Amino acid sequence: MNYKTKNKLNLQTIKKMKKKKIPLAWITSYDLPVSYIAEKAGIDMILVGDSGAMVQLGYQTTNSVTMDEMITLAKSVRRGAANTFVIGDMPQGSYEISDEDAVRNALRFVKESGCDAVKLEGGNRMASKIKAINDAGILAMGHIGLTPQSAGSFGGYRVQCKTLKSFEQNLDDAFALQEAGAFAILLEAMPAEPAGQIANQIDIPVYGIGAGNLVDGQLLIAHDLLGFYDKFRPWFAKCYVPAVIDNFREIINKNNDLKKFGIEERNDGLLHISELAIRKYIEEVKQGIFPDKHYSYELKENELDELLKSDKWNTTLHYSKVVNEN
Ligand code: KIV
Repeated sequence: MNYKTKNKLNLQTIKKMKKKKIPLAWITSYDLPVSYIAEKAGIDMILVGDSGAMVQLGYQTTNSVTMDEMITLAKSVRRGAANTFVIGDMPQGSYEISDEDAVRNALRFVKESGCDAVKLEGGNRMASKIKAINDAGILAMGHIGLTPQSAGSFGGYRVQCKTLKSFEQNLDDAFALQEAGAFAILLEAMPAEPAGQIANQIDIPVYGIGAGNLVDGQLLIAHDLLGFYDKFRPWFAKCYVPAVIDNFREIINKNNDLKKFGIEERNDGLLHISELAIRKYIEEVKQGIFPDKHYSYELKENELDELLKSDKWNTTLHYSKVVNEN
């Protein structure tokens, strides 16, 4: 089944999806083949993530990638997925120094690569940059929770919102980003319950990567979804190839003349397996199947008890979706 909305998403449809509680499914991409196949499969949005520094360009961390390199990656994504909403991830060093720098580099992303929006890591401390980019007429997404570019100064790659302080900080950051004019927020690495609190209290769409299934949509790194990267995979990331491999084998087995099938249909290789896998991911996000508790960070009872003490915790929200099983 293809869930793709008929036309490329825009701000109005993105807002409407939140209002109507239609989960949005997106992935990262850094190149033409994955972007092409993601659009064909019906993906809602693509992030040209600075994770491409590691999984595509082979750097040790995301911090090495430059604005020029990100633009080259984004150009190939744009060519591969001309009809998909594409977000350019501002690399470290391209926006922190001044509002002016942030606007200049956001403009470069949009003008040189044709991105539809940009994403910046950081909450309140980045609010003035989000506002400046927004004032320049460019859509800006905020990114809070675990923020890899500055993880070093926040004690490393840690799951967020497991303590009252961390939850209140992230909720305040989300309100600051909304106030600054962010069109959406991405939450990274936190249990479903606090992420759900943020998504419910904030009016703009709040998406998650490793943030459970109570948010307004899901992001996965393409190289995790397709099993293209073997150095590291966060355990909330699901590889969808095993789920579709029988389906692919069936398509192949139906053909007596594989050479002819390959030449005529070109559905005999990695492109088609990738399409099936991305379709499966989209289907599971839209149906609320992914992520279930096996692909979500756990919140222990004593941790939940602490969060419930917060004045900022809305106790009228209910969490039936958390218990979804495969
Ligand atoms: O660069 C990226 O892919 C990201 C995700 C990890 C959220 O920013």
